[in-house]
Amino acid sequence: MSRTNPPPRRRTQRTLVMGALAGAMALTLGTMNFASADEAPHTLARVDNPYEGAQVYVNPEWSALAAAEPGGSAVADEPTAVWLDRIAAIEGVNGGMGLADHLDAALEQAGGQPIVFQVVIYDLPGRDCAALASNGELGPDEIDRYESEFIDPIVDILSDYSSNENLRVATVVEIDSLPNLVTNVSGETATANCQTMAQNGNYQTGVSYALDKLGDIPNVYNYIDAGHYGWLGWDSNFAPSAQLFYETATMNGATVDDVTGFIVNTANYGVNTEPYYAVTDSVNGTSVRQSDWVDWNYYVDNQSFALAFRDELVSDGFNSDIGMLIDTSRNGWGGSDRPTGTSSATDVNTYVDESRTDRRLHPGNWCNQAGAGLGERPTAAPAAGIDAYAWIKPPGESDGASEEIPNDEGKGFDQMCDPSYGGNPRNQNHPSGALGDAPLSGHWFSAQFQELLANAYPPL
Ligand code: BGC
Repeated sequence: MSRTNPPPRRRTQRTLVMGALAGAMALTLGTMNFASADEAPHTLARVDNPYEGAQVYVNPEWSALAAAEPGGSAVADEPTAVWLDRIAAIEGVNGGMGLADHLDAALEQAGGQPIVFQVVIYDLPGRDCAALASNGELGPDEIDRYESEFIDPIVDILSDYSSNENLRVATVVEIDSLPNLVTNVSGETATANCQTMAQNGNYQTGVSYALDKLGDIPNVYNYIDAGHYGWLGWDSNFAPSAQLFYETATMNGATVDDVTGFIVNTANYGVNTEPYYAVTDSVNGTSVRQSDWVDWNYYVDNQSFALAFRDELVSDGFNSDIGMLIDTSRNGWGGSDRPTGTSSATDVNTYVDESRTDRRLHPGNWCNQAGAGLGERPTAAPAAGIDAYAWIKPPGESDGASEEIPNDEGKGFDQMCDPSYGGNPRNQNHPSGALGDAPLSGHWFSAQFQELLANAYPPL
């Protein structure tokens, strides 16, 4: 995963264009889709919030890794998401569980009661275009393989379970992809790979295809990835992102009815709520928005961002009952470095730095952050408009290798995972804040897991 960051300064809005060809395709597929959806016997009605009144699947593979760590049994029975991060993961990698195995295990855990099965759909062509740590197996142009070898087989398997009235499948659709199209295609934060993905349209084609096909399954609840406050919280990114999401969710056969909601902070470290300062605070007449840390952002935490973004999405045309998820797996920031109150400093930078519980060196840092802790335990409906706090990134799984490691997973080496790296325009040239000795993204990182336990907030 990579969380790439905010272009903190205003920039010209990207024009969202849908080519004539794509338009024609959307029309054709849209018609076909409606026809088949009308004919399909939908025995189940979706509930408004799938997490309400349901348990959430505990992935036995993650649970075993957590339980094997000293102190890990305190959290080993928390639900975490299953990541389909490559075609082979559908059947199971290296003898591990595949999608159908997990679904069977989920139904067993359910014991005849409702259960949410959380699954991350993560294999777009040209994946992770603004970073290297989670580049994937499919090249920028391999949209056909994405559709026929990744999404279609997932849909086939999920369809076999579609009539089970206890199973609610919450999908997290393609982390980082659409936000990267907003912030990393022009200006100093641009990358060549993101420009390629904007030009070939394959992020939008892939996401809309996934939403449409998955959305046809009556017990699937699609949540689209919506970055985080420290990425899309500036007004230069906020409205354009919502527009891009709407455009994508209504093209190529997808409709707003295929979308249950959005998720923020996936695999990131930004807090839910800053308890000791607010974006409206001023110090000596200077707004905290002018501090280096806030840097003119309109948000300082994810829950306020998620709720405001929800309103924006509804005003753009998404259904008014959409719900938000927040990934709270690693945004806890407890431990001895946690501030205990509001700073009394009169300098705005000191005030913010002493008051903030997020101890990162920059809100744009995303890889294996030193000092982070487990966040809120998974919770259904913690606030109006928030469907759940969820642990989507399984705590203890690395964000990326801290040095180059040859591999056959398509993963590159991103300097943002190297503790000695001095940064780039996407984190305004701050050190990466990453832990050393980290394995490839997705691989077990025991030292990080230990730190997450020690710095959990709320404490364990
Ligand atoms: C990796 C995936 C992994 C996921 C969950 C991502 O950063 O690229 O391979 O499944 O994290 O740990």
